[in-house]
Amino acid sequence: MTVDSTAAGTDAAGFAGLPRAKNQKVLIKSYGCQMNVYDAARMADSLGVEGYSETKDAGEADLVILNTCHIRERASEKVYSELGRMNEIKEARAAKGLSTVLAVAGCVAQAEGPELIRRQPAVDFVIGTQSYHQLPEALKRAAGGPAFVMTDFDTGDKFQQLVPPVAEKIKSRGVTAFVTVQEGCDKFCAFCVVPYTRGVELSRPARQIVEEVERLANAGVRDVTLLGQNVNAWNGGAGGPRAGLPGLFEKIAGVPGISRIRYMTSHPCDMDDGLIEAHRDMPALMPYLHLPVQSGSDRVLKAMNRKHRAADYVKIIERVRRARPDIAISSDFIVGFPGETQSDFEDTMRLVREIGFASAYSFKYSSRPGTPAADLPGHPDEAMKSRRLLELQILLEEQRRAFNQARVGTMTEVLFEKEGRHKGQIGGKTPHMQAVHAEGPAELIGQIRLVELAELGSNSFRGRIAGGTAP
Ligand code: SAH
Ligand code: SF4
Ligand code: F3S
Repeated sequence: MTVDSTAAGTDAAGFAGLPRAKNQKVLIKSYGCQMNVYDAARMADSLGVEGYSETKDAGEADLVILNTCHIRERASEKVYSELGRMNEIKEARAAKGLSTVLAVAGCVAQAEGPELIRRQPAVDFVIGTQSYHQLPEALKRAAGGPAFVMTDFDTGDKFQQLVPPVAEKIKSRGVTAFVTVQEGCDKFCAFCVVPYTRGVELSRPARQIVEEVERLANAGVRDVTLLGQNVNAWNGGAGGPRAGLPGLFEKIAGVPGISRIRYMTSHPCDMDDGLIEAHRDMPALMPYLHLPVQSGSDRVLKAMNRKHRAADYVKIIERVRRARPDIAISSDFIVGFPGETQSDFEDTMRLVREIGFASAYSFKYSSRPGTPAADLPGHPDEAMKSRRLLELQILLEEQRRAFNQARVGTMTEVLFEKEGRHKGQIGGKTPHMQAVHAEGPAELIGQIRLVELAELGSNSFRGRIAGGTAP
């Protein structure tokens, strides 16, 4: 990806009135969830105004930003090995007389702050998840000064101040886009770092979100995924007859060009009637629901502070399926939570069999510093966690295959998103988020077509495009 800095603005000064860097290059490496992908795009947009174009090559980057994830130990530790590698590149560039600014952003930045600079002195600054609008100011400070940390939560409206993307940039990112509508979490599940790394729940106002979607749609985006750590707790006041998130869906569905709306991640406790009815009533709302349950054992759910029981989850899914029978249900699972017995694990397996998931993510519990679960007794050993994870994943994979297999031979609407791996092929997604590739001209990218799902491969369908355009 490259930022078209000439298109990004023609003012004499860049963002925040700073002199614009000339022909500078930035590498932003993102880890973790979709919110980091969204944040990386917004950082790149702000830096575009400063005269930075993006590169994928660390060797030519004047600025490197590692956009990190703290969710599990392995994700967090990866940052330090990556920083070591970047330090070597920084030294090699210095030997050629080139300077490099090395920054850490994202959830590890927010959680560890000065520790990052202590463990890797090559780091020039650490910028937390709520400070990205201060990036230009950070760059100014980094020019010559000592290393510093910017991790305050209360820094004003980040979203309002971040620079919006230019049309060329949106086009280069494709016909699907993420839009963060809610950030932070007040749920405090016992295992999770997110409430500490993203702060309290905050909803962006509807007006701001709709303006952003209009800008995206004007540049060719057809499919938006509204992001939030607890997206179904969104309360940014859409106005109109539908309250909460469905009201926002309605506004977004009214934006010319937008054909598909998705949202993630939801919490079972915020799955209200209005949202369930929206799945029945709103054609633009795609039949896909990512609703993490984590465990099928009430004992474990209680210890996790999830505030719902397994039976509540089953009831919610029943209601969702009554509203939209073909909906694809997806979830996250954690195995090996402290105190999880074999019988608790079997409850999880039973719940999975009862629901039948179209897709799922499953993880071994990872103890995170500062979370209540880290201090609980009875951490299962690694071998046990691995065994349970494997057993669960085999079942979830069977269910995923069965869900996809059942659609072989059917006609479905596919939004084509990109060229395929082979010449003459294009790739897209079904409403259920299944990947499809088909023989077809590149002009169909950005269009929705009826496609026969002819054959199921390991990760995608081979489709045959039918004549005519889907509605
Ligand atoms: N807000 C979302 C997602 C949070 S993070 C939610 O409420 O579900 C994404 C997933 O990572 C979680 O759903 C959980 O399954 C997993 N996860 C979070 N903390 C973890 C930990 N300490 N160890 C293992 N998996 C974890
Ligand atoms: Fe983490 Fe729980 Fe909040 Fe999700 S709801 S972000 S798992 S604390
Ligand atoms: Fe990771 Fe932060 Fe997302 S911890 S999962 S990048 S919210």
